[in-house]
Amino acid sequence: MMKYKEELRETASQLAAQGKGLLAVDESTPTIGKRLAGINIENTEKNRQAYRGMLFTTEGLGDYISGVILFEETLYQKHLDGESMVSKIHNLGVIPGIKVDKGLSPLSGGHELETWCKGLEGLAERTAEYYEQGARFAKWRAVLQITADGCPTDLAIRENAWGLARYARTCQDSGLVPIIEPEILMDGNHSIERTAEVQEKVLVEVYRACAENNVFLEGTLLKPSMTVQGAENTNKVSSEEVAKMTVRTMNRCVPAAVPGIMFLSGGLTEEDASVYLNTMNSIENKSTTSLTFSYGRALQQSCLQAWQGKNLEAGQKALMARCQANSEASMGDYVSGSQPSSQDTLFEAGYKY
Ligand code: 13P
Repeated sequence: MMKYKEELRETASQLAAQGKGLLAVDESTPTIGKRLAGINIENTEKNRQAYRGMLFTTEGLGDYISGVILFEETLYQKHLDGESMVSKIHNLGVIPGIKVDKGLSPLSGGHELETWCKGLEGLAERTAEYYEQGARFAKWRAVLQITADGCPTDLAIRENAWGLARYARTCQDSGLVPIIEPEILMDGNHSIERTAEVQEKVLVEVYRACAENNVFLEGTLLKPSMTVQGAENTNKVSSEEVAKMTVRTMNRCVPAAVPGIMFLSGGLTEEDASVYLNTMNSIENKSTTSLTFSYGRALQQSCLQAWQGKNLEAGQKALMARCQANSEASMGDYVSGSQPSSQDTLFEAGYKY
């Protein structure tokens, strides 16, 4: 018996609503520190409050964004004016979510680059508290890498798939919709065909583990990487090719019961992340599942640059521009260049921790 079944179905379908996507602002404290350092802002609680408070008071955000993924600190934090961040998010008509994994640890017995994702111990207690605090969905990021010398190993695929499925079922027992995120890093010089082959293997294993753990698929969302070639591969691949390969991978592996596929940006530039998504959604008969976004870096780069620690309106305007662009892209209506964006590289080698 699953107590929250109907609520999970409802939350998942709201998150995957047409023309909307997720804003991922669940950077751990060290990771947000790197983003703030990029604009010479110190990584203090006050500055994190100012930055995220600026995001969550952006008028109209709920027109394009269905949910925001928070780091634990933010779920319990107040805005400078004393109102909780959760309440600010509700005011926008947006659903708060929470990152619940505890990061990555080296996978003994695997390749030296491989990891497993921590956080299952005590998870049932934490998810129950997060629900009380207002969260309605969760995220868990497992990471796999492609190398010429054997990654990902079968061990890494199995361990990470199993962790995602255990997490997913545990969240559902507390009323949180799990976002299942098996990220495949862009590091490497492999071809797009190699990525597709690996991603198919990973997704098949993830959904096998979900079946074994009695995960209710209608109450989940998938957050995959797009099927792209390695970042060090210099062959030019068109957005049509990326879109075609990504849609093929998803159609081959993701059960039709899953209501939404919300892609991560993974180091793509802001503009590429929008164009690739738009091209996927322009393919006729692509699939019945919604293909949309759950971007971190590709929604925040221009916004951080415009904000600079003080320019509230400029930061919010830049955020809205990228949210609108990706909302349009999720419906195949985005015209490249119609909104300001950045082509700065957002790729960071070995982006794991
Ligand atoms: P990026 O879009 O920056 O990859 O971040 C999304 C995310 O939540 C990664 O876990």
